[in-house]
Amino acid sequence: MILERYYHEATNGGEQQILRSFKFPSGSSAQVQCDEDTTSLKNDLSCLANYGAEIEPFIITHGRGAYVYTESGQRILDWTSGQMSCLLGHSHPEVVEVIKAYAETLIHTSSCMVSPPVIRLAKRLTSILPPGLDRAVFLNTGSESNEAAIRLAKTYTGRFEVVGLGQSWHGMTSGAQGAQYQAGRRGHGMKNFSSRNPKLTGLGPSPPGQHMLPQPNAYRSIFRHKDGTYDWESELNYGWSLIDEASYGSIAACLVECVQGDGGIHVLPPGYLKALKSHCERRGILLIVDEAQTGLCRTGELFGIDHDKVVPDILTLSKPLGNGLPISAMVTSAKIDQAAKEKGFLFFTTHANDPLVAAVGEKVLEIATREDLLENVRARSQQLHAGLHRLKDRYGCIGDVRGIGLMKGIEIVSDRESKEPAAELAKQLSKAMLQRGLWCQLQSQRVFRIGMPITSTEQEIEEGLDILEEAFNTTANTQPLFKVESG
Ligand SMILES: Cc1ncc(COP(=O)(O)O)c(C=O)c1O
Repeated sequence: MILERYYHEATNGGEQQILRSFKFPSGSSAQVQCDEDTTSLKNDLSCLANYGAEIEPFIITHGRGAYVYTESGQRILDWTSGQMSCLLGHSHPEVVEVIKAYAETLIHTSSCMVSPPVIRLAKRLTSILPPGLDRAVFLNTGSESNEAAIRLAKTYTGRFEVVGLGQSWHGMTSGAQGAQYQAGRRGHGMKNFSSRNPKLTGLGPSPPGQHMLPQPNAYRSIFRHKDGTYDWESELNYGWSLIDEASYGSIAACLVECVQGDGGIHVLPPGYLKALKSHCERRGILLIVDEAQTGLCRTGELFGIDHDKVVPDILTLSKPLGNGLPISAMVTSAKIDQAAKEKGFLFFTTHANDPLVAAVGEKVLEIATREDLLENVRARSQQLHAGLHRLKDRYGCIGDVRGIGLMKGIEIVSDRESKEPAAELAKQLSKAMLQRGLWCQLQSQRVFRIGMPITSTEQEIEEGLDILEEAFNTTANTQPLFKVESG
């Protein structure tokens, strides 16, 4: 397939200066001045250290709205919003304006000082969260916010054990990773990054006192009612009974996502979070909800916790808050905040409560809470849901389509009966999608994670669905369920 090119190159007055004019789907255009030919940069790729990712063989030169653009001019529909972060699309014009304005006003302060955007952001964030989540501090990454939350829970309760869900993802720092039963943790989970690489050794133990509840996986769980439906209640109760036996009686926190993103888009069943909260209360454990991927409208409600109307003791929010810039939040109750302060709680970092990113966060919250955006998520979610189920009806290799709002997953199997994962086929499909201009990140080697910007239009969703259909149609072994016309 010949890829449509959206740019032209021109040399300027004989100087080695490259101008690229990009035409965006909206009809607007931009001229980007490149200091050097980006293709030659590929020769210097070897200067980059490995951090565990499989780097794609192209270079992204810029992004706009739902799309990113490569050095060769390929336009890619970004269905994971970068790393699930560009909630409002790449380079949202209002966000860009704030960045420009604050870059000239105040970028950073001492962590002992505070600035107007930080105070305004704390007020805005706590005012859209339920009472009981009324004190916020701003950090940088999701890992950091979870690290701070775990530390706060330990300080407040005076205990040290932590409970997490199977296949969860909370970050790469040791506290967050300790509650994460997935990548980087050898011996846990189905074919994850670590078990894929038997050479991974030497990480040593995670912090002591880590416990795991079974992953709430409605598709694969062995806990079933007589009619075959998922019996999450028995699974959850059984999980806690095991933890009660294993625990030293010193559990500080239970940390969960409302929708497991990296774990394969598993939505907590209705009632699950409420039941979990009650398990925690009975044991004097703080419930921490990690809204790194579910926060700010993506699930069709402002926050993931709104579906079950549960108020956790601590909530963390990261990726979408900065729309691509590094800002995260840890939010808790006034009671926990004050009590932990009296006990000497410390999470002092260089970029705590930094002004520029806080100003961006404030703008993101303002835009995300505009009524029409939540409406857009709900409408686009229905369109996406219908389109993905149409695809499932057409291709037998799709074992499951699941998700909520604009957070969806497609699980690829070699056989619907046995649910055998089909990692190689998923890889081929991923390649076919990318060739046709769709980026849809593959999780656990078999689940496509979808989380496009919440500003996505009807046409953009349709375009992505068309590419998916073409990719499934042209890849071998997708098991078409419809009659293929010959000739
Ligand atoms: C639910 C969740 N929590 C925490 C993190 C870690 O965030 P970060 O990579 O910003 O440290 C991630 C990252 O993917 C995540 O998905």
